[in-house]
Amino acid sequence: MKEFIVKLIAKETNLKPKEIENLIELPPSDKLGDYAIPCFILSEKLKKSPLIIAEDLAKKLRKNLPKEISNVDFKGPYVNFFMDKKILAEDVLTKVKKKDFGKNNLGKKKVICIDMSSPNIAKPFGIGHLRSTIIGNSIGEICKANGYKVIKINYLGDWGTQFGKIILGFKKWGNEKKLMKNPVAHLYELYVKANDKKFDAASRDEFKKLENGDTENLKLWKRFRELSLKKFEEIYNLLEVKFDVISSESIHNKKLDSIISELKKKKLTKKDDGAMIVDLKNEGLGIALIQKSDGTSLYATRDLAAVKNRKEKYKFDRMIYEVGQEQKLHFRQVFRILEKMGHAWSKDCVHVAHGLYLDSDGKKFATRKGKTIFMEEILNEVIEKAKKNLSEREDLSKKELVKRAKKIALAAIYYGDLKNSRENNMIFDVDKFLSFEGDTGPYLLYSYARASSIIRKVKSKKTVKIVDLKNTEIKLLKKVNSFEEVITNAYKQLAPNLIANYSFELSQIFNEFYHDCPVLGSIEEGFRLKLVDAFRTTLKKSLDLLGIDVLEEM
Ligand code: ARG
Repeated sequence: MKEFIVKLIAKETNLKPKEIENLIELPPSDKLGDYAIPCFILSEKLKKSPLIIAEDLAKKLRKNLPKEISNVDFKGPYVNFFMDKKILAEDVLTKVKKKDFGKNNLGKKKVICIDMSSPNIAKPFGIGHLRSTIIGNSIGEICKANGYKVIKINYLGDWGTQFGKIILGFKKWGNEKKLMKNPVAHLYELYVKANDKKFDAASRDEFKKLENGDTENLKLWKRFRELSLKKFEEIYNLLEVKFDVISSESIHNKKLDSIISELKKKKLTKKDDGAMIVDLKNEGLGIALIQKSDGTSLYATRDLAAVKNRKEKYKFDRMIYEVGQEQKLHFRQVFRILEKMGHAWSKDCVHVAHGLYLDSDGKKFATRKGKTIFMEEILNEVIEKAKKNLSEREDLSKKELVKRAKKIALAAIYYGDLKNSRENNMIFDVDKFLSFEGDTGPYLLYSYARASSIIRKVKSKKTVKIVDLKNTEIKLLKKVNSFEEVITNAYKQLAPNLIANYSFELSQIFNEFYHDCPVLGSIEEGFRLKLVDAFRTTLKKSLDLLGIDVLEEM
């Protein structure tokens, strides 16, 4: 609909279409039309007061309006546009039926890699990894809707000095039975025990042996890796998240020599106390350690090797890292070093950071009464709670109860996270997340199921006739109409919360409409059913972008 305004204004002024599009605003009230354009820029160019320009422009435009625009008016420095609501309604109803509704071609033929989730072997899957999984997945879906080819990469932390500690711990105190029962818990317990100054030298030796290919250590490491991975897969199955590539730090560890020689050749390294570093102090980025004095490798070096490999292999146009904000400096260093190495594409790498989960007293959500939290325990707890809530509301077969509870629990967790601006810290409050009222995942599922049930029940044969539209109908039409714009903005800002907040507002407007406008038996039955269906399609597509699955009945 905006394009009609752009065309109209372009004819009367010498503003460029893009410029005009950026000027278009949504007025605060219906009385001021559906769209408005401020005249300040024109005022500067024409050296006339914006009030006079607004009046002149409105009067001129009025003379020759396309049928899509029913009126143009002016108020203060603004020109206000009133769209023809019947045409809007027809447009929206046709648009949502198209297969490519909610998709655009912004990223045609372009590739985006997303480094996401990336938990550490032999350590618990952390709450930060949960955030990275949920947000990374949603960003991936948003990129796809914008036409990009997306490669979701899980980059496992399976190399580094911590493995020296775990191997040492296992050799000292390892317990086969415990390992088989809960590998991650046992390995983590060993890590904690070995993470002590007095074992530092011995742990370093174990890691060095591992880097040098010692058979026994490699065998242990492989086993720990496999056992942990299996455990992580259970979590991904629960979360219903899939990756395109499972990668890891150890894979890139073999390519470190070439990175180090490239850095040396380009004269970027320095010796520092026996270690090799890249000095970024002049740029306010401190020092990046590339190789320790004992020759062992580092996280940053592996990331350099990994990103070069990805560039070669996937020819990405953008490389997104969805990782906690505590790694800000790390990524700034890695990107800066790439640039210094002469890789101009370093500008295509972005760190999309997220804040922390806090518990209800505002403290970091990491341990529970001093005990480590295991992700599968949390997820199962949420599912159990959802089951309890649900069984109080409805009498369901066991199978149906389990199915619905799982979907509700996932919607609660996903939405509870994604509705927040990702950089903010957020309170992980399961009871709030699970509520059926308010700004929650279950509320959205419920709104969807409600629309589905109307469509199931009312089998209208009445023709779709658009009579006088009510306010809530217009509001709903306009909201559906703005979906595509939200998708573009969510991509531009890499902000799933824009999609989440849109889903909520859309559902709220739908519920208002449904309260206001009876569907069954009304003269407008035919049209209203189509509108309910348009809402349903749009909400489903919106929730898809968040990784949330709908329920037809709830
Ligand atoms: N495994 C790391 C951690 O848990 C996150 C890895 C993020 N990705 C990367 N390419 N560095 O802290």
